[in-house]
Amino acid sequence: MDKLLVHGGSTLRGSINISGSKNASLPILAASLLTGEPCIIRRVPDVSDTNYMIQILSALGADVERSSGTVRITCEDVADEAPYELVRRMRASICVMGPLLARKGRCVVSLPGGCVIGDRPVDLHLRGLEALGAKVEFEGGNITLTAPDGLRGAEIDLRGTHGPTVLGTDNVMMAATLAEGITIIESAAAEPEVLDLANFLNAMGAKITGAGTRRIVIEGVKELHGVEHTVIPDRIEAGTFMAAAALAGEGVTLRRVCRDHLKAITAAIEQSGHRVEFNPTGDSCTIFRGETLQGVNLNTAPFPGYPTDMQAQMTALLATTPGISVIKDAIFPQRFMHCAELKRMGADIKVDNGTAIVRGVEKLSAAPVMASDLRASAALVLAALTAKGSTEISRLYHIDRGYEHIDEKLLMLGANVERVKDR
Ligand code: EPU
Repeated sequence: MDKLLVHGGSTLRGSINISGSKNASLPILAASLLTGEPCIIRRVPDVSDTNYMIQILSALGADVERSSGTVRITCEDVADEAPYELVRRMRASICVMGPLLARKGRCVVSLPGGCVIGDRPVDLHLRGLEALGAKVEFEGGNITLTAPDGLRGAEIDLRGTHGPTVLGTDNVMMAATLAEGITIIESAAAEPEVLDLANFLNAMGAKITGAGTRRIVIEGVKELHGVEHTVIPDRIEAGTFMAAAALAGEGVTLRRVCRDHLKAITAAIEQSGHRVEFNPTGDSCTIFRGETLQGVNLNTAPFPGYPTDMQAQMTALLATTPGISVIKDAIFPQRFMHCAELKRMGADIKVDNGTAIVRGVEKLSAAPVMASDLRASAALVLAALTAKGSTEISRLYHIDRGYEHIDEKLLMLGANVERVKDR
């Protein structure tokens, strides 16, 4: 297990490219199960989550070739049971359920277990697939879905108590592409990653309208075909580096971003007193650290609101921003594990009932800390950039799940970081 040593105090300068989106790549890779023809997917980030998805597809019988960011997948003949050993490693493997069911009329996927950021049930996924005519059974920790006579279009409301579901919308949308008739998803997730998946599916021959809004309409087609697609930039990786640049930078430029996906994050960083300048085409931005800084109030919300996946990183930035910040995560109210570790570095944070109250301190100091999940680990790296001394972050595999070569990108910007093997 690798660790990251971050020697605080370096100033970040220069520019880096943002990678393709992890959360768009995962369902898009799974969607290749919907056709027997080859799909070529570009800018798939080299992170362990996309590697798990590729392993799952291979285990299902897909022929997969990967060369740098391009993945070529042919699912000529696939099995309908996803292997537990692989599925259990990543919650997002649930998104093979919709395409397998649509293609094979049956699928078996293990029920995802608990997760450090919260309970994370899949009731909405199942509600949607049942509405399309699937029979759902649970046995031995597995979900079996069957639709021997095929799926039929239906009107489905996917709203849950915590708002819309991203992967649930993806699953139902993928299954509905091959259903007979028209499916209408109300209260759909409108995240850019859902739109990217819909664009991929439409290029395969699906008939989807309304993706990127709360109402998606899918007219089922008989079959889908192969396609070439380039994945959208990772807005959470971009946001994480925006926060790093605000904390420790002097004019850091991020290339290959999408301004429209970053509005809420940009607004939060600007409210705390920093400046973000986009180029006219909105695909590159430069972050200038502000001089007069202040705390902000943040509420996570579904897109276009402030993303829960940027909550921990912003908490790290605000930990050393003068004033009081109030950060509420209504999507995952238990997603505050990073706060205990940030407190070990000297942060003044109180967490109560899904809300963190952060009183900005002048400086954090290095401490051995432990990554607990992907975004929490990113928060610890950010905090360590300006902390006094060398911070050792263990359980680095969490960060490798979703940030492509983060240590190399930080080094390129001038940070003093070292990846070390655990003894
Ligand atoms: N929910 C239900 N029932 C369901 C599904 C979800 O109650 O059947 C609840 C969840 O417990 C949560 C809320 O609905 O409170 C939203 O969860 P959602 O289903 O949207 O999450 P997800 O689709 O499983 C994706 C991202 C997460 C991101 C969330 C929210 C992927 C692979 N994962 O998960 O990303 O936090 O949407 O935006 O796209 C990450 O990248 O670090 C990450 C955790």
